[in-house]
Amino acid sequence: MAIGPSGPVQIAPSILSADFAELGRGIAAVERGGADLIHIDVMDGHFVPNITIGPPVVKAIKRVATRPLDVHLMIEQPERYVDDFVSAGADMLSVHVESARHLHRTVALIKSCGILAGGVLNPATPAAALEEIAGELDFVLVMSVNPGFGGQEFIPQSLEKLRRVRDVLARAGSSAPIEIDGGIDQSNAAKVVAAGATILVAGNAIFGTGDPEAATRALRAACGSTATSRA
Ligand code: DX5
Ligand code: ZN
Repeated sequence: MAIGPSGPVQIAPSILSADFAELGRGIAAVERGGADLIHIDVMDGHFVPNITIGPPVVKAIKRVATRPLDVHLMIEQPERYVDDFVSAGADMLSVHVESARHLHRTVALIKSCGILAGGVLNPATPAAALEEIAGELDFVLVMSVNPGFGGQEFIPQSLEKLRRVRDVLARAGSSAPIEIDGGIDQSNAAKVVAAGATILVAGNAIFGTGDPEAATRALRAACGSTATSRA
């Protein structure tokens, strides 16, 4: 499966900041605005302090979304829930290197289900942590805030981290997409794209506005000319 239908840089609105009582409407709005993926943050109150949603909600979203579902697992023992999220309709499933004790096995399990497997790095986890697994990953997610909450400030060192992750992937012979997640908005979109990000997650900058449709469009526009020139 290709990641997203509309061009080299993908916009992935995170529903974490959406009005959960109006989730279907919110998703329709960002899809009208050109969203490529719908980013869904799963939190368990253990790996991260917050608790969000589980497979039943993903299943409900699958009924209304027309874009692939990008499910970001911020949970302990993610391998226990892979089947449930695949059955619920995840098209991409990412697991943190800090929580997946047997990461290679978990990545293989996700891929064996026929969906895309991603590895996630917390801000304090070095890019080098991916060296032995880089060639197996369909995508990498770089956290540019500490996971757990929407609306936090972008950590500037994430730009250098993106470059290092791109190097690690290149050394493994991979040109896998790199997703950036946390504090992304119009002010830093072009910078993260220039540093190597190809999938931009944004929660607050899209659903925290009065017009998620327009905000999705604006974020893509803010990626600048780099967005259309990357291979
Ligand atoms: C944070 C989540 C993010 C979050 C991003 O733990 O992984 O996906 O929704 O939200 P913003 O864009 O508001 O930082
Ligand atoms: Zn996320």
